[in-house]
Amino acid sequence: MKRIGMLTSGGDCQALNATMRGVVKGLNTLYKNVEIYGFLEGYKGLIYGNYRKLKPEDFSGILTKGGTILGTSRQPFKMMGFPTDDGIEKVPAMKETYNKLKLDCLVVLGGNGSQKTANLLSEEGLNVIGLPKTIDNDIWGTDMTFGFQSAVDIATDTIDCIHTTAESHSRVFVVEVMGHKVGWITLHAGIAGGADVILIPEIPYDIKNVYKAIENRAKEGKKFTILAVAEGAISKELADLPKKERKAKIAESPYPSVAYEIADQIQKKFGADVRVTVPGHTQRGGSPDSYDRVLSSRLGAKAAELIKDKDFGKLVVMKNGIVDTIPLAESAGKLKYVSPDDQLVQNAKTLGICFGD
Ligand code: F6P
Repeated sequence: MKRIGMLTSGGDCQALNATMRGVVKGLNTLYKNVEIYGFLEGYKGLIYGNYRKLKPEDFSGILTKGGTILGTSRQPFKMMGFPTDDGIEKVPAMKETYNKLKLDCLVVLGGNGSQKTANLLSEEGLNVIGLPKTIDNDIWGTDMTFGFQSAVDIATDTIDCIHTTAESHSRVFVVEVMGHKVGWITLHAGIAGGADVILIPEIPYDIKNVYKAIENRAKEGKKFTILAVAEGAISKELADLPKKERKAKIAESPYPSVAYEIADQIQKKFGADVRVTVPGHTQRGGSPDSYDRVLSSRLGAKAAELIKDKDFGKLVVMKNGIVDTIPLAESAGKLKYVSPDDQLVQNAKTLGICFGD
């Protein structure tokens, strides 16, 4: 008999259910008797001992279902050392729940912060396996996270839809894509959607270069321009400020987000008809695409194999098309940023896409 705990933590994404299904299908192939305990709303469920004992049928029909059947919540890693509002010490409480249920392993589907907590629990002696979830694709050590490709597809669809209306009305459109710290979704969706300008947090922009890109298109007779702008895109002026001053400036901004500021600047410069479109959380919603269904099923199957091999303290990753593992400790605390030298950025520049640098 194996007793496995599972939780989904942090912002949701499209292939959480598909990944859990992969883990459970794998376990049911490798073992005769498996009990699955699903903790509700991420680490909160583990802290408060809120769980559901799940039956195999709970994992039927969820390959294509977005969201998470367990619910999720954000429990910041930096707060793990502090008690809950009702005075519960989080780490001891999580260990107690794990031990009470006599779990053989805890499987954590989560992004960066959640995997840091997974590593902490592993260092505290629990058997933990991490699975790399996030639309942002910023987990260090894996080429791909599940959720990313589905989010890129949605952001691309948005840019596609904007293309036709931008062209009809000869307008400049700013499409704001998710990603506060990293620009992977914007970079991929921008290229896939044929954006003329891509602005991402890792490459601070000079607005004058954006103006130039719009002028160049006008000289070529193109009356519309599409900008794909990450939520965390930042101007060179702001990027050059010390962190504290930068944060204060951003907090003081009269604009709801950077996309609106850029739109206003372009409007003032050219007197142009500028519009902003924010697909927002639609990028995290709906069904996983076929790529994510395959990826999450493979990652889930690997987690089941790790449990069979008692190979704990690992994050399951995808490297050069091969499903592999790295120690949780190796990935914890590092983000995978877009490098300005990344071949994808260079290819995009060769295509004539402006990054504002
Ligand atoms: O980390 C995933 C993500 O969707 C980011 O791309 C985005 O900036 C953030 O979460 C939004 O967070 P929330 O769901 O708390 O609004």
